[in-house]
Amino acid sequence: MRTHDLAVVGGDGIGPDVTAEALRSVHAAAGHFGFRVTTTAYDLGAERWLRDGVALDETSTEKLRGHDAILLGAVGDPRVPPGVLERGLVVALRVALRHAVNVRPVRLYPGVESPVRGLSPERCDLVIIRENTEGLYAGGGSTVHQGTDHATAVQNSINTVAATRACVGYAFRLARARRRRLTLCHKTNILVEAGKLWTGVVEEIGNDFPDVAHDYVHADAMCQHLPLTPERFDVVVTDNLFGDIISDLGATIQGGLGLAASGNIDPTGANPGMFEPVHGSAPDIAGSGRANPAAAVLSAALCLAHLGEHAAALALEAAAASVLGELRDRPDSTTGIGTRIAERVREVDLTALGDPAASLMTAMSARSGIRE
Ligand code: NAI
Ligand code: MG
Repeated sequence: MRTHDLAVVGGDGIGPDVTAEALRSVHAAAGHFGFRVTTTAYDLGAERWLRDGVALDETSTEKLRGHDAILLGAVGDPRVPPGVLERGLVVALRVALRHAVNVRPVRLYPGVESPVRGLSPERCDLVIIRENTEGLYAGGGSTVHQGTDHATAVQNSINTVAATRACVGYAFRLARARRRRLTLCHKTNILVEAGKLWTGVVEEIGNDFPDVAHDYVHADAMCQHLPLTPERFDVVVTDNLFGDIISDLGATIQGGLGLAASGNIDPTGANPGMFEPVHGSAPDIAGSGRANPAAAVLSAALCLAHLGEHAAALALEAAAASVLGELRDRPDSTTGIGTRIAERVREVDLTALGDPAASLMTAMSARSGIRE
């Protein structure tokens, strides 16, 4: 029987609770679709840091590297200085595991209310591909004349052809498997050096994809187009900072952080992918049972797709969407929502969200096509 060996980092706040619900539906899907899932929990996050000052140790990194995929809840705790865990654990893992690609679907599911007036599900189904290891987030910097009126802070942006190619290549392959449209989002009129590199890579790789139309939108203009005309976009490829910003906007459009999923992927396939909800540890609602586990479940669906479990991934997404569509009339607790999704995985219609051929789950599970 096919077996997938998952590492589980529940993390902090609502992280462990939503991850438990994601695992509940993964196990339900495994039972129904005939594969096995083994899990290993990792003691990483705020408690570990408070106990022995370690955000991420070398041994854990190497062990994590040996799994087929990683499910992450969220990290961040009011008792830990900001950035220690977010950078020291999550960002460090993305870099160590060469996750040049961050996949962020922006899909409005039927019955979910978008804050954008009149937006319908048919008009909102796009994927943001964010470069995940470079840009302003990896460039380092320095401050001179600190504490004086001449204090000068420098923050560098790193852009390599290698990581940009890896990211843009994945985006083109994904676009080819979907609606064959790719949009580069950047700020090439101001950030001219990085902009030239990105534009050059898109042109270069675009030559190999004559069947994929590509265009360009400035990051600031994107903040208008995305909420007003999301139907313009199929695959949007962008750098780390712009991707962080526009994918939060995407999450808002699709109904909120409780619904927004993501996957961190090494497009060469050499390292395991790490799948996590976009939201953080939500200390304001931790322990209250009010966290929506759908984002974690949908991230697990991306994970199953990436592992080649196509039908299970479609089922998880359709089941989560179906329960999300009912929440306005039938709200529920974290466990309640998770249980309803897991039960529905076994009976849901795999075409409930439209033609599976057009689904991101299908594109992501066509390994030979999407991976390098
Ligand atoms: P957050 O995403 O944790 O919460 C923002 C707001 O959304 C809160 O009001 C929260 O209650 C709500 N929310 C988040 N997820 C929800 C869910 N599943 N269901 C219902 N409501 C939900 O962001 P915030 O408050 O800025 O950060 C909290 C901590 O998480 C910080 O330490 C931050 O650094 C960390 N963080 C970690 C991330 C990660 O692990 N990848 C990502 C973002 C933030
Ligand atoms: Mg963010």
